[in-house]
Amino acid sequence: MKVILFGATGMVGQGVLRECLLDPEVSQVLCIGRSPLGRSDPKLKELLHKDLYDLSPIESQLKGYDACFFCLGVSSAGMQEADYRRITYDLTLAAAKPLARLNPDMCFIYVSGQGTDSTEQGRVMWARVKGATENALLALPLKACMFRPGIIRPLHGVRSKTPLYHAFYVVLGPLLGLAQWLFPRQVTTTEQVGKAMLKVAKQGVPKPHMEPPDITSL
Ligand SMILES: NC(=O)c1ccc[n+]([C@@H]2O[C@H](COP(=O)([O-])OP(=O)(O)OC[C@H]3O[C@@H](n4cnc5c(N)ncnc54)[C@H](OP(=O)(O)O)[C@@H]3O)[C@@H](O)[C@H]2O)c1
Repeated sequence: MKVILFGATGMVGQGVLRECLLDPEVSQVLCIGRSPLGRSDPKLKELLHKDLYDLSPIESQLKGYDACFFCLGVSSAGMQEADYRRITYDLTLAAAKPLARLNPDMCFIYVSGQGTDSTEQGRVMWARVKGATENALLALPLKACMFRPGIIRPLHGVRSKTPLYHAFYVVLGPLLGLAQWLFPRQVTTTEQVGKAMLKVAKQGVPKPHMEPPDITSL
């Protein structure tokens, strides 16, 4: 299986990349991003591309892939809706549309989040924008699956790129372990997210929206 990964430098993406590289059924992982990963692996191919809103200059390198794990995203904290939408909706669709055209059978997994608002009408800005993004992806000719994790516990040295969240994980790390022990279906780990994505890509999309218990049960 050949996989394209967006957001591999981030917390979720680092965890997903680890699982892809460990999986014997994955022959290649193409990481596309604006920042270097700073690591190498025989299965790993890296494409540095500054403008992810326009993949046309690298389109010839995007054919022949079975799955795309889209782990790129930002926190909405302190952002205006238009700016958050440009990164969350516009950038995701700018990647998904050419991929759907180039790889019509592709499984496309998008990381949104628990509480995403499929109606696009609610009062919570991030949830509306993520809901619109999910709906647009589900309308594309792709085998699309929306992952909606809640609390994710970073494992195996994975760290958030968002400084505030990184500090949160350092301070509250032990409590997250306890939370996972108390609520094993609700709290996921970066390892579980990666393994669940691989299972969906291999076995097919079980349902369009995967809530935390769906992810942990996979
Ligand atoms: N962490 C959680 O607990 C959690 C829970 C539920 C849902 N999620 C969702 O999962 C997604 C990833 O979260 P995360 O925690 O992994 O975030 P993160 O650690 O902050 O990483 C963000 C990733 O997105 C990339 N990125 C952000 N803005 C970009 C832009 N304008 N152009 C290109 N690349 C950009 C970053 O690349 P650079 O290295 O180039 O900055 C990095 O790879 C988000 O959508 C988030 O809402 C996260």
